Amino acid sequence: MKTGLQLVRDPIKWALFEIGAGYYTRKLATGPEADLRQDFVEWLGLPQSERGDGARSILDVGCGPGHVTRALARRGHALTGVDRSPRLVRIAKRWTRREGLSIRFERSPGENLPFKDRTFDGAFTTGVIYFVEHPLRTLREMVRVIRPGGFIASLDPHESMSTSLARDYSRENRLSRRDTRKLVTWAITAEMNRRFKEEDLRALLAKAGLSNVTLERRMGGMVWFSRGVVSGRA
Ligand SMILES: C[S@@+](CC[C@H](N)C(=O)[O-])C[C@H]1O[C@@H](n2cnc3c(N)ncnc32)[C@H](O)[C@@H]1O
Repeated sequence: MKTGLQLVRDPIKWALFEIGAGYYTRKLATGPEADLRQDFVEWLGLPQSERGDGARSILDVGCGPGHVTRALARRGHALTGVDRSPRLVRIAKRWTRREGLSIRFERSPGENLPFKDRTFDGAFTTGVIYFVEHPLRTLREMVRVIRPGGFIASLDPHESMSTSLARDYSRENRLSRRDTRKLVTWAITAEMNRRFKEEDLRALLAKAGLSNVTLERRMGGMVWFSRGVVSGRA
């Protein structure tokens, strides 16, 4: 059941990405957020799969333009991406076709995935859980579609992320004005949505049904990389 505030806020959030689809595609394609996502892909530690050996079926929830989805597909894994923005799904499909990769993209809310239980070996979500109206419902839905023993990983702002820290980080790392603006924009979004203390993120992931949770901080401590294992039914 949605509260009055959610009834107003959720369509605004949807419209942000739908109207700004082109902007977000460019924003996330290069610069500090793109580098961070590349680091996240490495951190997942999935092997490069040659000719299908060791290939995993992996779901990307809130895939947006699919930059991270494609990075994992390039490693030989079988990727599926879902996003609730029709324009971003179209962009993700177009960029994927252009690169000659094969990825299944679906338009779907993360809170209600169009897949059977235990469909995938793993799932991840980058820059989404901190933003959605229902983080626990979204994570539980991800757990539902992962086989026991599979993984779920997420990338979200740490409680310290702020516009002033984003500016400090940009200065220290000699980011261009354009990249600084990108990072500050993310910090503004984080301030307006959710930033996680360690205990809150751990509690959320445990409630969703994850065990063996690993958390690491990145980008001057402003960002969490988190992952856990799906132990059984959530
Ligand atoms: C900051 S973008 C991140 C895109 C992509 N994960 C990346 O890191 O490049 C957030 C994405 O989440 C999507 N999104 C927001 N709420 C969602 C929801 N409830 N279900 C599915 N996707 C959602 C938006 O449409 C947008 O594409």
